[in-house]
Order: sequence, then C-alpha cells, then structure tokens
Amino acid sequence: MCGIIGYVGNKSALPVLQRALKRLEYRGYDSAGVAILQDGRFKVVKQPGKVEKLNVLLESIPMHGKLGLGHTRWATHGVVSEVNAHPHWDCKQEIMVVHNGIIENYKHLRKELEDKGHKFLSQTDTEIIAHLVEEYYTHTLEEAVIKVLSKIKGTYAFVVASQREPEKLVGARLLSPLILGLGENGYYLVSDVTALLNETRLVVYLDDGDVVVVKKDGFQILDFKGQPRRKTSSKIQWDFSTRDKAGYPHFMLKEIYEQPEVVKRNITKYIRAEEISLSIDENILREAKHLWIVACGTAYHAGLVSEYLIERWAKIPVTVDTSSEFRYRDVVLEENTLFICISQSGETADTLAALRLARKMGIRTLAVVNVEGSTIAREADTVIYTNAGPEIGVASTKAYIAQLFILQLLGLKLAQLKNTIDIGFYKSYLTEIQMIPLYLESCLANASQIQKIADEVYNAHNFLYLARGMNFPNALEGALKLKEISYIHAEGYPGGEMKHGPIALIEDSLPVVAILSQGRVRDKMLSNLLEVKARHGKVIGIFPAGDQEVKEVCDYSIEIPAVREELSTLLVPIPLQLLAYYVAVNRKCDIDQPRNLAKSVTVE
Ligand code: AGP
Repeated sequence: MCGIIGYVGNKSALPVLQRALKRLEYRGYDSAGVAILQDGRFKVVKQPGKVEKLNVLLESIPMHGKLGLGHTRWATHGVVSEVNAHPHWDCKQEIMVVHNGIIENYKHLRKELEDKGHKFLSQTDTEIIAHLVEEYYTHTLEEAVIKVLSKIKGTYAFVVASQREPEKLVGARLLSPLILGLGENGYYLVSDVTALLNETRLVVYLDDGDVVVVKKDGFQILDFKGQPRRKTSSKIQWDFSTRDKAGYPHFMLKEIYEQPEVVKRNITKYIRAEEISLSIDENILREAKHLWIVACGTAYHAGLVSEYLIERWAKIPVTVDTSSEFRYRDVVLEENTLFICISQSGETADTLAALRLARKMGIRTLAVVNVEGSTIAREADTVIYTNAGPEIGVASTKAYIAQLFILQLLGLKLAQLKNTIDIGFYKSYLTEIQMIPLYLESCLANASQIQKIADEVYNAHNFLYLARGMNFPNALEGALKLKEISYIHAEGYPGGEMKHGPIALIEDSLPVVAILSQGRVRDKMLSNLLEVKARHGKVIGIFPAGDQEVKEVCDYSIEIPAVREELSTLLVPIPLQLLAYYVAVNRKCDIDQPRNLAKSVTVE
C-alpha cells in the first residue's frame, strides 16, 4: 500500500525524502508528494504519477529545511489527482500528515468537523487526521494525536508535523507497518526498512498501539493512552547490495536471474552435514498432527504446492487457505494443529489478521517470511526466513522459489521426525535438492527461446494454464504472473478439470501453457494435451528434457531438466516467469510497477 517517510535532523530533509520515496515506490505509485518545513512554514509539492515525475518538478522548486514528510500513494479513497495526493493539511495549513491505511469512520468524523466549519479539500480519508489534530491541538502535538487516536477507526500508520513545534514529528501505528530509523544525523519514520538504505541500519520496530514522538535530539514511545513504552533497537542484517538493477532492464528480470543464488543461500543456511536444520524447536513439527497453511497471492500458491509434498512425505493432513477467506470463515482448528503463514513482505494485512486469529485460538504458529523484522515475523511463535533479499519487482519471483524451497525442507524434516519416509529416500532427496541451483541455471538458459515464443503469442487475449498434481498450483502461479504484468486474462486449471468447462475456450487463438513432469500424472496430462490439440489449441509445453512423446504434441517446447516430480515444482516457475515477462515486455507494460498493484497489501 502507500509508502510514508518522515525525517527530522541536521541534514537537508528533501534529498532524504526523495531517496526514500524512490525506494518505497513499489508500495504504491499513483501519486507522490513532499512537505518541507521551510522558514517556519510548510512548503508542499505533490502530484499524480511516479516519484520520478515529482523529482523533475522539484528540480525547479527550491526547498530547504531539516524536517519533512513524504508519501507515495496507492489510492483507496478518492481518484488519483493532485488534491488527493499526500501530504494533507488542516484549515490553516499548519499541520501536515502522511498516512498508510484506511480510516473507516472518516465520513462521519468529516461531517462533524464540517458542521464546526472545517473546510476539506480532498476526497481522501486521510485528511480527517489533520483536521482532527487541529481540533484538539491545545498543548503538545502528541497530546492532540492521542486524542485523535481515540476517535478514528481503521488501519493506519501516519506521521504528523506542525509549524508550532518545528522540530517534532509524531507517528502512530495500528495494523500498518511503521519503523523508527535511528540515524547519526537525525531520525526517520518509514513504512519499511528498504527506505533506510544508505541512511541507517539501526531501527526500532514499532508495534500496534505505539505512538512515537521524534525530535531532532531524541525520541519517546508512548501507548495510545500516553503512557511511556520501552522498546529495544535492532540492527538490520539484510544485504542491501542487491537493491539496484545491476544492469538488468527491470528488477523482475534481475530477481528471476537471482534465483539460483537464493537457493544456494538457503542450502548453506539450512542444510548442514547432510542434515536439515531450520533453527526452530523441532518439537513444534514433531507434535503437529495437522498443518493449516494460510497466505495470499503467490505465497498461497507456494502453500498449495507444499500441501502435495507434505501429505506425501509426512502423512499428516494439510489444509491450505487464502488468508482473506480464513479470517472470516468459522474455521475449526483442532488441538496439535500447526498454523503456518507464508508472506514475502511479512506485512500483508489479511495474513497478519489470520495469524492473530490462530494465536487467539491458542494454536501454535510458524511464519515463513522474507522481510526481516516484519510484523508477521515478529508476531508468530516461530519464524523461518526465506533469505531471498529485498524483492523490488511487484510480481514476486525469487521470494516464491525461496518459499517453495523452504517448504520442501520443512516437509522433509517433518517426515524425518515422524519417521514416515525411509532414510534412503531422505538422504538421496537431500543430495538431489542441492543440485537445484544448477538446474535453475539451465532453466534460465532457455530465456532466448522463451522470448521467441512470447514474440508469437503476446497478442493473445486469453491464456489457459494447465497442470496436474503438485504442479497444478504452479499453473495458477503462471497465470497470476501473466495477469499481473501483461494485463492479459489467464486462468490456471487442473488438467483433469478441463473437460468440465474450460475446454469450451479452446480454439487456435488460445495459447495453452501445459506443465508436465515425470511421475504418476504424466500420462493423464498428455491425454489432456491431446484433447487440446484435437480442438486446435496452441500448446506451449513445459516438460522434462528428452520426453519426445510430449514434444511432438507441443507447438512450442520448453524443456527443463528431467528431475523427479517433487523437484520439478522448483524448476517450473522459471519458464513461467520468463514467458510472462517477455509477453509483458512486448506489450510495453510497466514490468516492475504494474498498474493497480502494490508490493505489500497492508489494507483489507
Ligand atoms: C505476487 O506477485 C503478488 N505481488 C501478490 O500476489 C503477493 O504474492 C501477495 O500480495 C502476497 O504478498 P506477501 O507474500 O508479501 O504476503
């Protein structure tokens, strides 16, 4: 969702805000804006469009000051326009606010204030915060903010500044991420740690119910009643060196090519002396009688793949749910259920709420997360990091491979602890899984051939993705990647289900991406392909190298290393990602920042 930044210190604030907004832009890119306190008055520049466009405008507007607020927007309330861009202010333009989240009762509060004579400029929910602060601002800014917190309902991370207290920022968080950065020359309030790259590695992760008062020379944390709260600071370990495009045209392509390295990193971290060690209390796994996996989007697809593997190896029931459905369904979680949530960002609102629900039900929780120190990572009983590094492309790629890999290790470990697989299989699989980086390299070597296929099919209006068994969720993922970045409608479907409806879509203008692997469903999938061919469908086949019979049925062939079915689930994502990427490039789409999307969905 939106990205917010506040800075107060000894440095000129504008360059700090501009650097941070560029890094926060993947959270929302509908509009951007800054406010700088200059000679005792706020100077505001904001407009629709990307940060780049704002920076061009800022070149012609001199702004100086050591306190400022910045925002990059993912529109929830009010169209994309200059007046709806943040920062927003009060009637006298003395109080500035930037906000990420949704104030659910803003309409009612706005009416109350309009009846008192307040004039609102925008259609946003956020503007209400500035006017409410104005309404309660009798002593200090933090006292006014604490009064406001008792009035507003919803989710929020916001930062407020006032001309009356020119060296102070006040921030508050409830169900949206907010982090305090402790710098040598000042303090930062940001939505996520990537904004602090090159600024500082020392942070305080704020929790729901925190109010933070930051001044040039120090900070204080209070609760929503104004009582002091003690917090410890942490050092960000994350390797930020991968935070630029390294010569690739897009972050997405760079992150696709990083996948062998990401898997190598997790092999080094979690496989030692031919043993899996996930650095968690193994009793959590040993005692689990049922796994309940919850996630959104791509992470949900990783959960679905692992359902097949874990049930096959560990012989315990696995249920996989989308977070938004889980949290509003009357789920029955039995004793000894292990709740697992998967999230790249660790901030996805629905997944966080699902985790809190499971904890409230007294269920043990484990999070598989990429972003260090994120809320989900800190709130779960146990966390396993996926070590994919910062993922900037909105379409998730390397985080997906890392999730699939970690879940395979988790499944194997569970089976070993529950004695449901023989040691021979365990040892040989562990040896083979360490070959994955090599196999991924050879999948990447197909890139130019996949580009040629994309050149043939990028004008299609629809795509169908088919697979059976544990690669079916990969078909869902392939369709999602294409939808996200090329805006072509695409559907992932189990091959066996095709005859029950989607076969009606088959015609020669419909590309059908078919995933086949060795194993028990290979022949069934081949017959499905023959049914597609019988209706002149155009088949793009992803299958094990050397499978001539399949090759003959395909119009376009993408061969991947011939590995066992379970391992193929780790390889298939690469051709799917590359196909979506090259189709989207041909359609001149904004690959890294697709329309209407955001990297971390922190509102419902
Ligand atoms: C995937 O490419 C999308 N960006 C999106 O579906 C994403 O997977 C979903 O929003 C979940 O995000 P999370 O892993 O950060 O929780």
